[in-house]
This record gives sequence, C-alpha cells and structure tokens, in this order.
Amino acid sequence: MPYHSRSRLTHGLDGETVLPTFMPVATQAAIKGLTPEQVESLGISLILNNTYHLNLRPGVDVLKVAGGAHLFEGWRHNMLTDSGGFQLVSLSKFTTITEEGAVFSSPFNGESTILTPEESISIQHAIGADIIMQLDDVVPSLLQGPRVEEAMKRSIRWLDRCIQQHESAGRKDAQNLFAIVQGGLDPNLRDKCLDGMLERKDRVSGYAIGGLSGGEEKDVFWKIIKQCADRLPEDRPRYAMGIGFAEDLLVCVALGIDMADCVFPTRTARFGVALTHTGPINLKLGKHAKDFDPIDSTCPCPTCKDGTSRALLHHIVTHETTAAHALTIHNIVFQAQVMGRAREAIIAGTFPDYLLSFFAGYFGDRG
Ligand code: GUN
Ligand code: ZN
Repeated sequence: MPYHSRSRLTHGLDGETVLPTFMPVATQAAIKGLTPEQVESLGISLILNNTYHLNLRPGVDVLKVAGGAHLFEGWRHNMLTDSGGFQLVSLSKFTTITEEGAVFSSPFNGESTILTPEESISIQHAIGADIIMQLDDVVPSLLQGPRVEEAMKRSIRWLDRCIQQHESAGRKDAQNLFAIVQGGLDPNLRDKCLDGMLERKDRVSGYAIGGLSGGEEKDVFWKIIKQCADRLPEDRPRYAMGIGFAEDLLVCVALGIDMADCVFPTRTARFGVALTHTGPINLKLGKHAKDFDPIDSTCPCPTCKDGTSRALLHHIVTHETTAAHALTIHNIVFQAQVMGRAREAIIAGTFPDYLLSFFAGYFGDRG
C-alpha cells in the first residue's frame, strides 16, 4: 500500500491540514448550527464552501469588502470552494450548458445568469479559499451516450480557461487550483480525461475525481476511483468529490484518495442519526427512550464527553435544534476519527488491520 498522503497542503491563515481528510460542508457560510469556534475546537482544519451559493448570498461585493470568506465567516483555517459545477446537476431543472458557460435561470424570478469558467474563478478569488476548483461540466453519473463525452471534453477546455484566468490574475501562488476528472462510468472516457488533465500537471495543485456518487453500483464506482487514483500524480492531493459514507471513505483511501467531502454526516445528524464505529444509530427510534448511555462512551466529542444520553437526544430530536447541533458535532468528529485512524494506520504500516477491524465493527453483529 503506497503511502500517498502529503502533510503540508495549503496555506490558510493557520494553514496545515493532514491527509487523508474528510471535509465537512458549509454550503452557505457556516456549517449548519455550529460557530466557527466550535468547528475549530473539534480539530477541523479544512471546510468546504460553495461558490454558487456564496455568489448568490452574500455576493462578491460583500465578500470583497469583508476581505474574503475567511474574514467574513471568522474561519481561521483552510477552506475549499467548489466551483458551482455540481449545481449544474443538482439544479439541472434551472440550467442549460453552452460552450461559454452554465446558464442558470433563477428559481426566484426566472432571470438568467451565466456562470463562465472565468467568472467561477474570479468569484473564487473574491472568496479567497485556499483550494479552488475548476468549473466542470457535470452530468448525472448514470447518464450514458454522447453527452458524457462532450461534458468530459468540455471540462478539459474549461480547465484551460480556469488556468488562464487564475494565472493572469496573479493568484497562482496564493490559491491552489484543482482540476476535476470527468468521463462518467466509462473507463475509456476517464482515460482520455486523465490524458488531457495530466498534460496540465504543472499548472494545477491537485486533482479531484468528479461525476460519481450518483447512484452507480459500488464496484463500478470503485473501479473508476482506482483507475483515476492510479494515474494521478503521487505529489498532488487526490480528492473524491461527494463521498461521505465511512465505508466508502475507507475504500477510497485504500485505493489512493486523500480528500473527500459530503453533506451526508451533517445532514443525517439533522435527521436524528448518529454515526458510530458500530454503525449508524437512529435516535428517533423508540428503543432509545430509556437508553441513558451516551452515543459512544469512547467518543472524544463534546456531546459524548458531556454525557448527553441517547434518551435525551431521542426526547428532543424531533423538536429541538440543540439535538441537531449535538449530533452534527458528534458526526463531524466521527468522520475525522475514521480518517485520522486511517492516517495513523498508514503511517504505522497497519492499514489492512485497521480496515479489517473497522469493517468487522461497522457491519458486525451488534446483538
Ligand atoms: N461535487 C460532487 N461531485 C462533483 C463534480 O463532479 N463536480 C463538482 N464541481 N462538484 C462535485
Ligand atoms: Zn460523540
């Protein structure tokens, strides 16, 4: 198993993030329900923000006056912004793609705006994230046919426009631009995309693998991750976009992935689900009504250390935002532990043992 993670990645205000890492998602500005101080106190040093949403609110004008999103949000550590490309899929009812860029019609007033690769990069410059993503042409992962190839090729052309915009603005050494490999579930298209994007290696700081985690079979997903990770350079971080189940994170790390993000752990917390090393626990279920144990007595998170019981969480989960906060905190720490233990095991040369014990515990018989 190659040890592929590099320790010094970015240069935020307080700039070190060790790999592999899971990035919690703060779509708007904050991670829903948590203050930056809380997130910091959990040991998180890299969060994900979204260009599309920050551009709508508060907007570039406000961010420029604020001096960027770190200062606006009061976040002292590293930040990654996604380019807005993914919203092409998630808001696809409202978008059309042209070579020039993605045209969005506002769900509020029907007015259309175009997001070009150049503009995505300029917005990400105003936001000032430590890692910025190219604008890519994203299609649903199960789509087949000529549109997949078109989107892959366009993503390479858009990468060139992003690089050009990034370098001509003089931001190459200030913010790290990542390319995003597309090509759907077709290994030939992925290889062509890798050929094109690897030619630009000296002009990008890292690589993401996009267009996955949209309902495809696991074996197909794993093959694409392996194919891409095998070809992506050892000296650049490799980021699997939109991956967040613990079991997927560990398979991805085993295949060579350094970074991942997903709304899953924070979203599922708001639905009353706590993630644990013996599998997810749905605190809405009646069986927790008289269960006075914490979620996980070995968990170092403030929720568990304070002794907050499953019974209390069950009691308040449907009507108190405190329960959502408490579970969000726990789930963020759980994700960080899964990745942190992977890192320790890789360094100690015991990663296969860690995988065995994690999977036995996570999918084992809980009696
Ligand atoms: N988030 C999850 N998947 C993707 C992707 O393919 N592209 C971008 N830009 N963001 C993503
Ligand atoms: Zn906990």
